[in-house]
Amino acid sequence: MRNQLLTMQIYRANILFTPTPEKFEILERGYVVVGDDGNVIGTYQNLPPEYQDVPITNYGNQLLMPAMNDLHIHAPQYRNLGIAMDMELIPWLNTYTFPEEAKYKDLAYAERMYRRFVRDLWKLGTMRAAIFATIHPEASCLLADLMHEAGLGGMIGLVAMDRNSPDMLRNTPEEAVKGTLRVMEHTASMPLLSAIVTPRFVPSCTPEMMRALGKMAADNKLPVQSHLSENLSEIAWVKELEPESSCYGDAYYRYGMFGQTPTLMAHCCYPTAEEFELMKKQRVFAVHCPTSNCNIGSGIAPIRRFMTAGIPVALGSDISGGSGFSIFRVIHYTLQMSKLKWVHGNYKEMFLSLSEAFWLATKSGGSFFGKVGSFEPGYAFDALVVNDEDLNFDNYTIQHRLERYIYLGDDRQIQHRFCQGKEIPEPKV
Ligand code: GUN
Ligand code: FE
Repeated sequence: MRNQLLTMQIYRANILFTPTPEKFEILERGYVVVGDDGNVIGTYQNLPPEYQDVPITNYGNQLLMPAMNDLHIHAPQYRNLGIAMDMELIPWLNTYTFPEEAKYKDLAYAERMYRRFVRDLWKLGTMRAAIFATIHPEASCLLADLMHEAGLGGMIGLVAMDRNSPDMLRNTPEEAVKGTLRVMEHTASMPLLSAIVTPRFVPSCTPEMMRALGKMAADNKLPVQSHLSENLSEIAWVKELEPESSCYGDAYYRYGMFGQTPTLMAHCCYPTAEEFELMKKQRVFAVHCPTSNCNIGSGIAPIRRFMTAGIPVALGSDISGGSGFSIFRVIHYTLQMSKLKWVHGNYKEMFLSLSEAFWLATKSGGSFFGKVGSFEPGYAFDALVVNDEDLNFDNYTIQHRLERYIYLGDDRQIQHRFCQGKEIPEPKV
């Protein structure tokens, strides 16, 4: 897989992508030319003559779109998918999540679950992901190996946690730094993978831990991912634990982990005015996880307000708070939740459009990984070919076909998956 040599390729199909949130760029039976580096050279309605000798793969009447990006997912919560949603965040973590993650000390168990995790990412069309692993360095490097073997991209976070968690699931600041640097060195030879500094969330990390992680992020120019303002009891608890911080976000900011390097913050359901301004100033990504926010009863993030203010937004499955891998399903929930927010906020914050939600999952989320998530020139050819003939039984427009696929489709319609120009076969479990 890794050594598959690329030559220039042309793909023909019904192409959709979102260079801007406002509208789809659609080329009916158009062409995308991909260079030998796996990046898009251009999209064309009519093929320019200079490409006439390049082989064309014709996907006929199928849809060809950018692949999905998942900017917040917990690989070691794989076994808990679709169960254990009868509690809110903090008891949910203590009762179900922490005991499951502690099992990843056992490398054989980790391999059994992580193989399925990688296969399911592939299956649902997610080609790149920002992943929380566990405190365990061996299992985290194994996860990187499996992603690399599969040909998928993203970032792997060795999770740091040294308080308010069971003894079985704690590391010291030294261990968290060493483990993260080990993942960084381990992924150095993997072009599509890298390490990300991952304090679990403020309640899990002492000031010593936060200081050590912030220094590591600065010294190694590493990005950061964590959780922010997900749930009301969590926010109240952070106020007690960190009385000097002016808001939850400030408890990351003061340690250099709130936009000092590129930063992903999952959830952001309840930003105070100050937190909102800090996210904006620091260009912190709000990673919207609406399926999770429904399942564990967290709340509805103000995505329209973030977008209007220019705060970057991406989408995440947050497995196993979220109950499935499909970012198409997350788009579907993003649209539905934005309408609930609209109604419950007296019709002030306009709900999202289909193209806006699709843009969040593709170009906006993909931007965290570089030029990913669009078919504009220079973008990585990360793509899905979708055969929607079972859904397209009358004269639907191309955009309506995508809309029907988002609301009615699943993995069965996905025929081909590409990451950085390479077609990705089904990973072995
Ligand atoms: N906050 C801290 N850890 C977690 C987690 O594993 N899932 C979610 N949804 N929120 C968290
Ligand atoms: Fe999470």
